[in-house]
Amino acid sequence: MEKKKKKSFIWRLIAFALIVFAIICRIRWKTWLWGLLVLSLLSLGTLCKIRWHVWFSNLPEIRYTLSDVPQRVLLTFGNEGERSRRVSWVCGGVSKQASLEYTEIGSQDTLRTPASSRFIRTLGGYSYANWAKFGTLSYGRSYAYRVWNDHRSSAWYTFTMQPDSTDHFSFVFIGDVQDTLHGKTRAFMENIRHHYPAVDFYMFVGDFAERPMNCYWEEAYRSVDSIAPSKPLLVSPGNHEYLKGLTRVLEKRFAYTFSYLLESRYKGNNVYALDYRDATLITLDSNRDPWFMFSQREWLEQTLQNSRKKWKIVMLHHPVYSIKGKMKNLPVRWMFDDLFRKYGVDLVLQGHEHNYARMTAKTPDGTMTTPLYLVSHASPKNYSLAFDQRYDRFGTNHRFYQLIDVVSDTLRLNTYLENDSLYDRVVLIKQPNRVEVKDEATHIPEQLEMPWLTVKKAKKYTQAVREWKASKQIK
Ligand SMILES: [Fe+2]
Repeated sequence: MEKKKKKSFIWRLIAFALIVFAIICRIRWKTWLWGLLVLSLLSLGTLCKIRWHVWFSNLPEIRYTLSDVPQRVLLTFGNEGERSRRVSWVCGGVSKQASLEYTEIGSQDTLRTPASSRFIRTLGGYSYANWAKFGTLSYGRSYAYRVWNDHRSSAWYTFTMQPDSTDHFSFVFIGDVQDTLHGKTRAFMENIRHHYPAVDFYMFVGDFAERPMNCYWEEAYRSVDSIAPSKPLLVSPGNHEYLKGLTRVLEKRFAYTFSYLLESRYKGNNVYALDYRDATLITLDSNRDPWFMFSQREWLEQTLQNSRKKWKIVMLHHPVYSIKGKMKNLPVRWMFDDLFRKYGVDLVLQGHEHNYARMTAKTPDGTMTTPLYLVSHASPKNYSLAFDQRYDRFGTNHRFYQLIDVVSDTLRLNTYLENDSLYDRVVLIKQPNRVEVKDEATHIPEQLEMPWLTVKKAKKYTQAVREWKASKQIK
């Protein structure tokens, strides 16, 4: 506070001195305007020079060569409802014809369907991105498939469709992964797969790969290589999947990998929606430049208006309520939050800020209600945390994963640490005129350590933790 007062006093003194100087020198208003313009341009230029690498520069890609075998086989959803599935893969060498071969397990028929293929040259090398659609698939049936580039095929993989006539589904939600090369995410994901083999699908909130480079795509795929061919992966784009420039562009490998985006894009926004069981799942693209956000809002409103499902779940990369500072991500909040509240969104799944946080909306009398806003991450990178009183719970210094389980009128959100200990549990229950929110984690202590901070920052952070705990009456 003292520092702030001192700063504001200095600025007022400078302004006062400038006015006095102007009066003494009898500077005309036109001269003032020109002076201000030159000063603004100089400030903008200096800022651009300092922040050039952060805002506009992309690191050169490390050179790579892909083998000609079909690889990185990944199952995802399609654009024709909850039974549609797509598969994507890459290869090197020369490929003239890509195709998908599949069969319903137990049947005698094998189908072979042509796939789409794009030759992609990037700064580090080249590859073919391939993707294909499965035909009509039946509820509860299992399928085996493999993919082809000319005469070369992948291994056989299998997947099972969700059963019909059930009001139950579950999925795993993962925040930013952004692993380093040869990182630990594969062990983290294998543990989840081992514990929850029956989940319907996985959702990743973006920054799936550390950088849009082949080596990081390889690393990201390695993390999920035993899951990706057999469970649909639904991924929203994060800022690390974008190429920087005056206008940011989604790196082309992303949409070929998660190829539902190719048909669901709306006016330059990489958005997607799927009605699955009794839920509408929506993925937004919070990385777009501000002038794209208006059309994305338009799409979101249409999608929410048209949803007839009981549950509405939205995933976007940037938290609507930042946990790094009150002034961050404001355009995202201004564009989307009133729609979330107006159309009864239940769950807002977010990432980007590399800590754990959970916030519920509150009624005028302070009762918890929806939307429930969740921030999570599973990355080795840790960022700072600014406590915001609107939040109910925070977590730091861990990787987190979420199991979300929906049965009829009840949605259970369970958050676990990497060692599988329960860290957070919230239950949402649809009542006739409201959504009841039960916080079942009040007995679980918050973990708020940040051992990587410098001595000066640690002192400040310790004080912030103390104030947070006092305000929430936590011992
Ligand atoms: Fe991010």
